[in-house]
Amino acid sequence: MPIVDIHTHVYPPSYMELLESRSTVPYVRSTPPTNSPRVFILPSEDPPSTTSTGRPIGPEYYDISQKIAFMDTHNIDISVISLANPWLDFLPSSDAAAAAETLNNDLNTTCDRYPGRLFAFGALPMSASVEEIVSEIKRLPGMKYMRGVVMGTSGLEKGLDDERLNEVWAALEETGQTVFLHPHYGLPKEVYGPTGGEEYGFVLPLALGFPLETTIAVSRMLLSGVWDRYQGLNVLLAHSGGTLPFLAGRLESCIAHDGKLLREGKLANRRTAWDILQNNILLDAVVYSEVGLKAAVDVAGADRVLFGTDHPFFPPLEKNGEKEKWLSVTTNFKAIKDAFGPGEMEKVEGVLGGNAVKLLRLEI
Ligand code: URA
Ligand code: ZN
Repeated sequence: MPIVDIHTHVYPPSYMELLESRSTVPYVRSTPPTNSPRVFILPSEDPPSTTSTGRPIGPEYYDISQKIAFMDTHNIDISVISLANPWLDFLPSSDAAAAAETLNNDLNTTCDRYPGRLFAFGALPMSASVEEIVSEIKRLPGMKYMRGVVMGTSGLEKGLDDERLNEVWAALEETGQTVFLHPHYGLPKEVYGPTGGEEYGFVLPLALGFPLETTIAVSRMLLSGVWDRYQGLNVLLAHSGGTLPFLAGRLESCIAHDGKLLREGKLANRRTAWDILQNNILLDAVVYSEVGLKAAVDVAGADRVLFGTDHPFFPPLEKNGEKEKWLSVTTNFKAIKDAFGPGEMEKVEGVLGGNAVKLLRLEI
């Protein structure tokens, strides 16, 4: 059974040029003392303070041969690549549709260089008009290696419970494409303390802001009835659904006890978080612990959890040779193996790759 990585990012060369040309976040900048390029993308880095340092960025982000080398080092057979955050979200409305088209063509051509080893989630021009977004969604299935789209949580700037997204969900459902929902925006940095948590590096926004952002976005989709309207819509959640597997019970309880929702007739005939987790949501296995992975498997089912790495983010802090295995990857491999019993090899193989091959049709 192949090993498939469904959570693995790229910044194609043209996107790197865009980041290098910018003077506001998101951008890439070489700063002293190392003078090697660093990426500033997160809202918590905006505007960069005198102490903010960004994160190192090198060819592992834009040179696809480095992705293949990383795959070989970790015995990964197939990767479903996606543009990393913040995607095309920040582009002026007038540039977004053309940029998405160029970028997605480029991703498809990149996959074609390694037939059978690479597939992709396309990027959407979320700052463009709904017509332009829908038109890109409808164009993607015509491209050999595209298997869905990657999306952040901002929607058309008002979040994913915005009714103006109805046509977008309808087009995604109709074309049978998986939405890879990924965080970027986090929480307001004030929640991390007077300095915005900067004294703790990127720990708070990445470990907590990201998963909470995903949890809130999906909860808003649920509350606004997205899955009541689009019952065939499939969404793959980054980081094992944030905290959703753990909080789904509390979410359902708060809904069942909400007088406003009752008065407005919103409690009748609604699909529950449990139903959606089992039928519409796929969870990646990027959670770094057996406990988290078991929760993901418990709520979504072992056939709906999919291995991922988040490459090229979270590299080893000290390099000990090109062929070194990454701690961020081995931790997730171990969590998957430990979460299942000795007689459950089929489930392990499913999470490692079989589920992805089946659900994303990874055959050419
Ligand atoms: N940091 C990011 O900005 N994105 C990721 O996907 C992971 C870490
Ligand atoms: Zn990621």
